[in-house]
Amino acid sequence: MNVLVIGSGAREHALCRSLSLDPAVTALHCAPGNAGIAEVAELHQVDAMDGEAVSALAVALGAELVVVGPEAPLVAGVADAVREAGIPVFGPSKEAAQLEGSKAFAKDVMAAAGVPTARSYVCTTPEEVAEALDAFGAPYVVKDDGLAAGKGVVVTDDLEAAAAHAAGCERVVIEEFLDGPEVSLFAITDGVSVLPLQPAQDFKRAFDGDEGPNTGGMGAYSPLPWADPKLVEEVLETVLQPTVDELRHRGTPFSGLLYAGLAITGRGVRVIEFNARFGDPETQVVLARLKTPLAGVLKAAATGDLADLPALRWSDDAAVTVVIASHNYPGTPRTGDPITGLAEVAAEDAPHAYVLHAGTKYAADDRDTVVSAGGRVLSVTATGTDLTEARERAYRALGRIGLDGSQHRTDIAAKAAAGA
Ligand code: AMP
Ligand code: GLY
Repeated sequence: MNVLVIGSGAREHALCRSLSLDPAVTALHCAPGNAGIAEVAELHQVDAMDGEAVSALAVALGAELVVVGPEAPLVAGVADAVREAGIPVFGPSKEAAQLEGSKAFAKDVMAAAGVPTARSYVCTTPEEVAEALDAFGAPYVVKDDGLAAGKGVVVTDDLEAAAAHAAGCERVVIEEFLDGPEVSLFAITDGVSVLPLQPAQDFKRAFDGDEGPNTGGMGAYSPLPWADPKLVEEVLETVLQPTVDELRHRGTPFSGLLYAGLAITGRGVRVIEFNARFGDPETQVVLARLKTPLAGVLKAAATGDLADLPALRWSDDAAVTVVIASHNYPGTPRTGDPITGLAEVAAEDAPHAYVLHAGTKYAADDRDTVVSAGGRVLSVTATGTDLTEARERAYRALGRIGLDGSQHRTDIAAKAAAGA
């Protein structure tokens, strides 16, 4: 199978890595990719937001499957353009991707499908905002309605800060605070059948101890030893299948990856958000544990053949990933700094630990030097017989990497590994 992956993050590197290990994949392309993906796939230049350009590239390459990684092209309709060109594509239509593109739309779908989520108000004026904040009380949860790369949500006890965030957005969703641990559960769907993957936990805050601002995600682990073994089945029945059914009944079937961000509250599971694509960094740990070759699974979702697929096979290993971010992330990151130690990790830590690239590129004048080119730069991923071993391997590998001014969390999966 000839596969084209669209995107340039650590998620796309993880996808390309798994696809490159799949014997069914005979050619692997990625656009635009990054310095790490270049080691497993052939890179191409494309504007990932331009559906015509992406479908033209797919046709020119003879792609038999296109995987659209990030949310922005999906919300812009890039998957539709590829589908119109007659090429199977893994990723939802523009209309179905509104599940991520608009929090108000997602709330409407959940209400219609009876999916448990936080009570909420959609507000467009300061008066409505003030009323909603008052109705729920602290802690306040204020969400920009549109796409914001994981940075549009403010959770705070400070009424003024909550109102200020709302004032900076056109339309906001203000909702009830959900208490309890968070779980990310991904499901692959063709619009009818739903195949849940293994759950993972993401660390959204920038600093140790869940302090600091929200980010796109600073690390993740899987499995979740503390979670109820029936969690996946429950979420399939109460969240994933009803949501997929609702979108199909609306005439906008969702095919691709449905990501449920969940809070396990004292009153049961609640949806915090939906995303329309693989999560980053959770994908790095979920794919590290998937034994079934990936290409056939994604292709079956793209062609509506998921019901015929045998059950997925999973490794008993645990996986941990730790993100290395640029100086000042999630603010405007500093870029262009050289990254050292990548060859040492490949020599000393493989195959149990490896580096997945996000914001990296080759230095302009030197193909041997990789430099930082974004907020989240690298994702150091490791597997082990349990979370303790996977953590040790991830942090040992991370210790070999040099990036001036960079930051990372030191407590990824620490509590879960300690059985807390
Ligand atoms: P979102 O972009 O909706 O995933 O929100 C980002 C993060 O904000 C989530 O992972 C949670 O940590 C936090 N958050 C969002 N909604 C709520 C809520 N209703 N209650 C508590 N925390 C929330
Ligand atoms: N890890 C959070 C996200 O992908 O949105």
